[in-house]
Amino acid sequence: MSAPASPFLFACCREGSEASLKADVLRRHGTLLTPAFMRPQLITWKARAPVDETFDLASPFARVSGLSLGPCQTDDDIAARLVERSISRVCLHVFPRVVPEDGGIDWQPLDAVRDRLAAALQKGGVKLDEAAEHVVSIVIDDKPEAPLFAGLRKRRAGDPLPSGGLPRIALPGHAPSRAWLKLEQALAWRGWDKLDLHGQTALDLGCAPGGASLALLDRGMKVIGVDTGDMDEAVLRHDSGGFRHLRIPLARLDAMKLPSAVSLLLCDINLGPPEVLPHIAKLCESIQAQRLILTLKMNLPVYEKRLDEFVDFIRGFAPGPVIITQLAANRREVCVMAGA
Ligand SMILES: C[S@@+](CC[C@H](N)C(=O)[O-])C[C@H]1O[C@@H](n2cnc3c(N)ncnc32)[C@H](O)[C@@H]1O
Repeated sequence: MSAPASPFLFACCREGSEASLKADVLRRHGTLLTPAFMRPQLITWKARAPVDETFDLASPFARVSGLSLGPCQTDDDIAARLVERSISRVCLHVFPRVVPEDGGIDWQPLDAVRDRLAAALQKGGVKLDEAAEHVVSIVIDDKPEAPLFAGLRKRRAGDPLPSGGLPRIALPGHAPSRAWLKLEQALAWRGWDKLDLHGQTALDLGCAPGGASLALLDRGMKVIGVDTGDMDEAVLRHDSGGFRHLRIPLARLDAMKLPSAVSLLLCDINLGPPEVLPHIAKLCESIQAQRLILTLKMNLPVYEKRLDEFVDFIRGFAPGPVIITQLAANRREVCVMAGA
């Protein structure tokens, strides 16, 4: 029995990126997709041709995307829509539509909805399995009376590991900058938060005032930070004493004075990708960086249109698969993660 075709797709994005997401989808898919139902941080498109759960929207501005199963009036509707597609095993993700930039989400009521839906799915003949090839996304509205919005996708390489691409972490009060959260969200996206990075070295380009460096020091890493700006005392006086500050611009960084290999290379310099990426490519010729986390600043609107070009350039020197997305804590920027 073949799966019923659905003409709708959905994507969740960060607040304020809705226009970028729509424009990017138009560039990639042309007239195949027409924007339909829209709420802040959630967009749907109607497709002119049948699409299924394998369709890849492939937009960096979509944190999560897939086939829309539409609004569901009852919990049992979700199981019924899966069963009619002959899907009997899923990974269930329940997350909010509206995501605050500081990551502060009250997960307790969302987990209660998840438990309720898990029971309904099981009763309806759908087994739950974290490793299932189908992922069901339930996007919870901020209005309790709104119907549940359900989406379905077949897992793809580069899919976020946390539900909705939202690890359960919020920006702590002692973090010197929002970059703490960007770094932690990127690590969690790839599952790198589970790695033992203790004693390993990170090179942090554009490190001031030190949110990302602090997160890495707290993970037991040694950090070499490059920035002309001042570092926060929390980094300079970190208990581990693991931070070294090179107070120079990126262009003056001498790779010969760096270790020959680093476990993680970060870049969060607030210059556009055409200015920063050639320097990183050159650095990667001299030092072996096992993993990259690069924040690409969309300082000019035209950079959004050039994202594929930037990613192709990064692929030329990246240590492994390259994933690009806009994290919940990103602003006018996107995050590239590369390596395994
Ligand atoms: C968004 S902030 C970085 C925040 C930082 N990652 C953190 O964790 O707090 C951008 C930084 O890029 C630095 N920057 C700008 N141009 C630079 C250059 N040519 N070389 C090195 N750093 C640069 C700025 O001084 C600024 O501190």
